[in-house]
Amino acid sequence: MSDSPKPNKTGGLAGVNAGETAVCTVGKEGFGLSYRGYTIEDLAAKAGFEEVAYLLLYGELPTRAQLTEYRQSLAGMRGLPEGVRTALELLPKTTHPMDVLRTGCSVLGCLEPERGLDRQSAIKAGNRLLATFPSMLLYWYHFVEGGKRIETQTDDPNIAAHFLHLLLGKAAPESHVRAMDVSLILYAEHEFNASTFTVRVITSTLADFHSAIVGGIGALRGPLHGGANEAAMELIELYKTPDEAETGLLEKLAKKELIMGFGHRVYKKADPRSALIQEQAKALATAAGDATVYPVSERIDAVMRREKGMFTNLDFYSASAYHFMGVPTPMFTPIFVMSRITGWTAHVIEQREKNRLIRPAADYTGPELREFVEIEKRG
Ligand code: ACO
Repeated sequence: MSDSPKPNKTGGLAGVNAGETAVCTVGKEGFGLSYRGYTIEDLAAKAGFEEVAYLLLYGELPTRAQLTEYRQSLAGMRGLPEGVRTALELLPKTTHPMDVLRTGCSVLGCLEPERGLDRQSAIKAGNRLLATFPSMLLYWYHFVEGGKRIETQTDDPNIAAHFLHLLLGKAAPESHVRAMDVSLILYAEHEFNASTFTVRVITSTLADFHSAIVGGIGALRGPLHGGANEAAMELIELYKTPDEAETGLLEKLAKKELIMGFGHRVYKKADPRSALIQEQAKALATAAGDATVYPVSERIDAVMRREKGMFTNLDFYSASAYHFMGVPTPMFTPIFVMSRITGWTAHVIEQREKNRLIRPAADYTGPELREFVEIEKRG
């Protein structure tokens, strides 16, 4: 039996299989969460994010030579065209970083449009966004924060190191880079979630790659999906001690508030990604000598289990992990984008290979047919 919910509630396409995929399994019996047949536990422990990106885009794990070449090729694409830099400079400081990436993706799509709807075009566009999303975000960030036009073409060995380097202005500790790398692996792909489904719907109209990704970023932004990692951090930061957190949380539950970073549409017992990122968050907290954020997080987790029988999803402990790496909270969901671009690209390719327009039907709940009333006679 899989962990999938029974369709006992109407709406939200719960329990509906909306198509086929060979990219990923979510909670499937004997598989758990797997990317192209490899378990998330193995990938998080034994692979690096670029290896996983290669697996998702090209279908197989790379050889050492292929990985070296792939990493070098991605690293060589970190620079931003002048048009993207100019557009980013026009965005105000109040812009949410998710909107920065949505805009950057759209502008890049105008400057470097996909040449065709074939596999190679999608891979090329996906790799370019994979290489430039951190550059876009941090070019904009340093420009609006301090008027600095940073050089985004670094020689950092991987995307995790590149992102933290650009953010902090210096190389990050190895433990932070590894934790970020694991986080990118965990966020890379998750079957027909809301943003990936959006990407597939747009792709199914034979629209271009960048249009599909812009839609995916929009769907990911909300707190019921990717935005939950930011909302979880805002919740954790409300409390100074675990006891305060317990009291505050019980008040929220009494008011029937949603607690961000908990629950999942498909997983009903546990999100297998959560334990993996919690391990990273705990190690970073210990190294930082933290006595607040992690203990508060653990108490919120315990209260949710006790009171609601609910479990943390990936977003909950990602929040404290990013916090210890020095990442500002509004950049949490953009990190999700920097990773999920790999899964989205795989789904664009898969959708195009067996395309049929995605166009479901609806049950009508409106009025019976009625006589048209001329405008002068309407009361
Ligand atoms: N806090 C409190 N109560 C909750 C939560 C929560 N986080 N999640 C679900 N519930 C409650 C619902 O209100 C519902 O109660 P009811 O039956 O009394 O109405 C019950 O649990 C069952 O919930 P579902 O309807 O099965 O949840 P659904 O599948 O529609 O939604 C979702 C899943 C959106 C993830 C939901 O759990 C939620 O809103 N969680 C918080 C947001 C969040 O963390 N999102 C991240 C998702 S994972 C990711 O994007 C990586």
